[in-house]
Amino acid sequence: MFAKRIERLTSSLVRDILAAASRPGVISFAGGLPAEEALYRPDLAQVQSAQQLNCWQYGQTEGEPQLREAIAAEARALGIACEASQVLVLSGSQQGIDLVSKLFIEEGTRVLVEAPAYLAAVQSFRLFGADFLPVTVDPTAGPDNQSFKVALEQAQLAYLTPTFQNPSGYCYPDEQRDRIAAALDTAGVPLFEDDPYRELAFDGAAPQPIVGRLKHAPWVYQGSFSKTLAPGLRLGFLIAHPILVPHLTRLKQAADLHSNRLSQHLILQALQGGLHEHVAQILPIYRERRDAMHVALQRHLGDLVTWQKPVGGLFFWVQFKQPVDTHALMKQALEAGVAIMPGDAFYTEKPALSCLRLNFSHSTPQDIEEGMARLASLLR
Ligand SMILES: Cc1ncc(COP(=O)(O)O)c(C=O)c1O
Repeated sequence: MFAKRIERLTSSLVRDILAAASRPGVISFAGGLPAEEALYRPDLAQVQSAQQLNCWQYGQTEGEPQLREAIAAEARALGIACEASQVLVLSGSQQGIDLVSKLFIEEGTRVLVEAPAYLAAVQSFRLFGADFLPVTVDPTAGPDNQSFKVALEQAQLAYLTPTFQNPSGYCYPDEQRDRIAAALDTAGVPLFEDDPYRELAFDGAAPQPIVGRLKHAPWVYQGSFSKTLAPGLRLGFLIAHPILVPHLTRLKQAADLHSNRLSQHLILQALQGGLHEHVAQILPIYRERRDAMHVALQRHLGDLVTWQKPVGGLFFWVQFKQPVDTHALMKQALEAGVAIMPGDAFYTEKPALSCLRLNFSHSTPQDIEEGMARLASLLR
C-alpha cells in the first residue's frame, strides 16, 4: 500500500526519548532544546506591528523580501558572496534537509556524512534511498584528510556541520575548511553545509563557512533561528548556488507554499532590532551550563569517560573508556529520572566506542550536577 521508502523510515529514537524526557521531574540531557530563559519573546507591540503587515494573506514561496535581504547581508558578512535572490526562507532548517534530500537523493545516491552526524539528517537521507560514505570525525582533530578525500572520490553529495557539530561539538578550524573546500572543488561534489549553531560561540567567533571558500562546486548553506531566537517560530533559511535556487524554490512550493508570515515579520524585527545583542545576552546562560556540565563530568565520571569541553553549540560528546550498553543505560537512567541520548543513534554504521550525547542547555546547573550524580551511581 505504501511507497517502498516507508520501509526505511525507522521510528525516531530521539522522539521516543524526548517524549519520556518531557515527563515532569525528569532531568533531560537528551534533546537539543534551547534554555527556556533564553527564548526570544516578542512583546505585544512587536506582534501588533508585525500583524499590520498583511501577514494573513498567502505570501511568496521564497520568503518576505526584506527578510531575504537581511539574511543575505548577514551571510555576506560571513564571506558568502550572495544576493537576496539566492535566499529561501524555510519552515525550520529541518525543511532544508528535506528539500535538499529531494533535490539530490534517490535510491543508491552516495552521500558523504560525518560519523557521527545529525541524526535527523541521516534519517531524511536514508528515507530517500541514500548510500552512506561515513567519514569519522575525531572529537579533537575532526575528519581525517585522507579518508575525506577517498570518500569524496565516490560521493555525489557531501553533508557537513563544520561549526560546533551536532553531536560531537567539533569546530573545523580555518585550514581544515580551506582544505575541504579545495577537495570539493577538485571533485566537483556539491556541499550541503548545515550551520544552526554558529551564533552559540562561547569562546570566540567560529571560522567562516566552507561554502564561501568554494570556487566551483555547487553548494547549499543553511542556518536557523531556532537556537538564537525560538524554535517555536519554526523558521530557518537556506542560501544556494544560483543553479540550484529554481529547483529548491519549486520543491519548497510543493512542500508548503511558503513559511509562516507572522514568524517572518517577528524575526525581521529581531534582526533589525539587534539579534546579535540578544545572542550576547543569552550566551552567559549557556556558558554557565556548559561549565557546570564540564565540572560535573570531572567530578562524577572523570575516570570512566573522555570528552572535550565544547566551544559552542549545545552538546557534550562523551566516549566511554570501556564498552557500555548505552541503550540499557538509557532505560535505567530514565527510571532514575535522567534522560540521555545513546551515541550510536548518530552513526550510519556501528561505532568503535560506546558514547553518549549530553545536552547542557536545557537544565539548570543544579539539575546538571544532580543528573550527573544519578548517572554515575548507575554506572558504578
Ligand atoms: C545540525 C542540525 N540541523 C538542523 C536542525 C533543525 O533545526 P530547525 O528545524 O529547528 O531549524 C538541527 C536541530 O537541532 C540540527 O542540530
